Amino acid sequence: MRRLRVLVLLHPGLVPPDSLDDLPEHQAYEVKTEFHVVRTLRQLGHDVRVLGVQWELLPIRQTVEQFDPHIVFNLLEEFHSLTEFDQHVVSYLDLLQVPHTGCNARGMTIARDKALSKKIAAYHRIRVPHFAAFPRRRAVRRPRDLAFPLIVKSQTEEASVGISQASVVRSDEELVERVAFIHEKVKTDAIAEEYIEGRELYVGAIGNERVTVLPTWELLFENLAPGAVAIATSRVKHNPRYQEERGIYQQQATHLPDEIQARLTRTTRRLYKLLHLTGYARIDYRLRADGELFFLEANPNPEIAPEEEFASAAAAAGIKYKDLLQKILTLGLRASRW
Ligand SMILES: Nc1ncnc2c1ncn2[C@@H]1O[C@H](COP(=O)(O)OP(=O)(O)O)[C@@H](O)[C@H]1O
Ligand SMILES: [Mg+2]
Repeated sequence: MRRLRVLVLLHPGLVPPDSLDDLPEHQAYEVKTEFHVVRTLRQLGHDVRVLGVQWELLPIRQTVEQFDPHIVFNLLEEFHSLTEFDQHVVSYLDLLQVPHTGCNARGMTIARDKALSKKIAAYHRIRVPHFAAFPRRRAVRRPRDLAFPLIVKSQTEEASVGISQASVVRSDEELVERVAFIHEKVKTDAIAEEYIEGRELYVGAIGNERVTVLPTWELLFENLAPGAVAIATSRVKHNPRYQEERGIYQQQATHLPDEIQARLTRTTRRLYKLLHLTGYARIDYRLRADGELFFLEANPNPEIAPEEEFASAAAAAGIKYKDLLQKILTLGLRASRW
């Protein structure tokens, strides 16, 4: 394997230490992805440099000029603290003519918008929950055919920012209140979708023109509080104590009828192309008890900590962590024009 100069771009607050052993549990949890990626790239024999960026583009340009990386490993999820700016950094790398891992800027822009990506899917007859977008500075008027219960989310944020039990609304009054919450607290446009009760399924995919679809993963809720809805709130996603307390865990989906598994694989492949995704991505679905499958959202450059869904699904498909990272590098180099 060729030894590559790899520049890992990440948030300055997430520059990983050499070891996680001395960190308090929550800090170790926060940097786990960065830590494992950097360590594994070094174990693969690559020459790895880490750069934290957030407020200035100049350090990227300077490091690219000095270090002359073969490729940037893109772990950056925001710029100026704004998640929707991550795609601009990818565009900047393109302008600097340096190859990068993960998704291209166009795919990131399309997938980022939960309304736009659903419109594209629906146009191609992939089922999505009915929804309405509620931009900022506009009155909230629910279309008559949009039925409660609804789930109100940011149109563009990720990682369940702004999603809690209060996101599921059952009246116009609650809808108006929750949309205002998204506008004011998350500071983005909002989207309200019909709440789909069903299994929460994640399908990872990796590739550019040729796409490998990974085994289906499922998020399970064993011990929900009475009256709570089973949704991936930010607590569900990011609080290991809460996960333990509420019996929340993820594993390879079991007892999926062959026909549904085939549909998941086929739909994921189609969405990957339709949304212009490259590198690696994870697509989130809900499967209703009657067998109807709904596309919820696409996540380019999903979380790739070894124990999270994507890498776990890759491992289940026989792709070891170091091979997964090497594959991501190779795909980034191949997607590049330089
Ligand atoms: N239409 C929906 N019906 C049921 N649950 C939903 C729906 N939309 C979102 N959710 C729940 O909220 C979670 C987060 O929503 P998602 O659109 O994936 O946003 P994020 O980008 O923050 O992950 C989902 O994983 C799911 O549990
Ligand atoms: Mg999601």
